[in-house]
Amino acid sequence: MNSYDSNRILESVSDTHKKVVNPEEADVIVFNTCHIREKAAEKIYSEVGKIAELKKNNKNLKLVVAGCVAQAEGKVMRMRQPNIDLVIGPQMYHDFPILLNSEKEKSKLVLDFNNEEKFSRLGTKRSSASLSSFLTIQEGCNKFCSFCVVPFTRGAEYSRSVLDLVSETKQLVLRGCKELILLGQNVNAYHGQDINGKEVSLAQLIIELEKIPGVERISYTTSHPKDMAQDLIELHGYSKKLNPYLHLPVQSGSDRILKNMNRKYDTKRYMEIIEEVRKHCPDIALSSDFIVGYPGETNEDFRKTIDLIKAVGFSQAYSFKYSSRPGTKASRIENNIDLEEANNRLYEMQDLLNEQQKSFNSKFINSTQEVFFKGRGKKEGQIRASTRWMQTVNFYEKTSFIDKGNVKIIKAKGNSLLGEMR
Ligand code: 5AD
Ligand code: SF4
Repeated sequence: MNSYDSNRILESVSDTHKKVVNPEEADVIVFNTCHIREKAAEKIYSEVGKIAELKKNNKNLKLVVAGCVAQAEGKVMRMRQPNIDLVIGPQMYHDFPILLNSEKEKSKLVLDFNNEEKFSRLGTKRSSASLSSFLTIQEGCNKFCSFCVVPFTRGAEYSRSVLDLVSETKQLVLRGCKELILLGQNVNAYHGQDINGKEVSLAQLIIELEKIPGVERISYTTSHPKDMAQDLIELHGYSKKLNPYLHLPVQSGSDRILKNMNRKYDTKRYMEIIEEVRKHCPDIALSSDFIVGYPGETNEDFRKTIDLIKAVGFSQAYSFKYSSRPGTKASRIENNIDLEEANNRLYEMQDLLNEQQKSFNSKFINSTQEVFFKGRGKKEGQIRASTRWMQTVNFYEKTSFIDKGNVKIIKAKGNSLLGEMR
């Protein structure tokens, strides 16, 4: 979502500013920050410190900190680093062009929550797009999982209207987008209004977006098991454009821990959803998020998570060591888990998840897949693209590869595939 927001920030000043490659050339530098775990948040102070040095050579340079660290720690941040010219929270980007040029003291720390105005003022006109483009359809969260800062930094749930999303999609398509990645912290809690003011579900929105000529693929992320509605599950069975991919974070395989995390489902329900999704879309790629070392997690709880992973068989997953976040309910519980023990649990989990990813990917060897261009690969002359199952495929260009094409999969690596252009 920060990537989507950064593009919108950039586009909002495109009349007066252009993108540059090196920080030394810039008159404005915006840090768009993430507060989800401590490590991400910590990085920002040292980065801002380094960049602030550039002010010595460029007196006009403006330093802006945006995003969730700005929202959560903005005041302290400005005190610690007086070189910061503007601190702006994630729901206020519509005012960015005005604030950038304002000298008023109160315009230097802007942390209100105003999603509705944010999206209506940013509008739906887009001046750039990628082949796969992000589109924020929903923001914020009302779930209050005990470990998570999102409800505090992104605010309450908000869904954009169908009309706006159709209009923005058409803009993206005009500029070359063929794959939409619908975004929301709780994307499947989407309940935006249609033109008659009636609330529609995520499945109904996807059906509308699929009708737009030029849209070839659609994905959505991140979903919550509690909001996994039947119409969405069924859509995976008959939609021609919805990718066979579902990112459905479970966090833990222990019902006791899930209850303490305030996740609002148990493992039985999670497994029922998985079964139902597979019934409608047997080849679906299932992805998840896991937290290890949540306060009070015993080895028995952890074993249950390992058992759940084995029972599901994920195509990929993200796993994190629990990080205490200020203001959350879990931060008030004493964490007695030994650091080494938490690390060992994380490594064991990651080994298993990597094995499952490789096994999922291996099934594609010798098949031919249509892939969408994502960027240049790490190696000289290599292209990085993605399948409908959201796997990364690297291959060498034979003829000029513009945006999409067919690639034969020849090898499954850890978290990517190696292909050969047809
Ligand atoms: N510590 C560790 N991981 C976290 N996540 C969210 N909050 C925390 C935290 N305090 C993880 C969850 C979530 C993903 C986006 O980040 O797994 O699904
Ligand atoms: Fe955070 Fe997701 Fe829980 Fe909301 S549902 S509080 S975003 S982990």
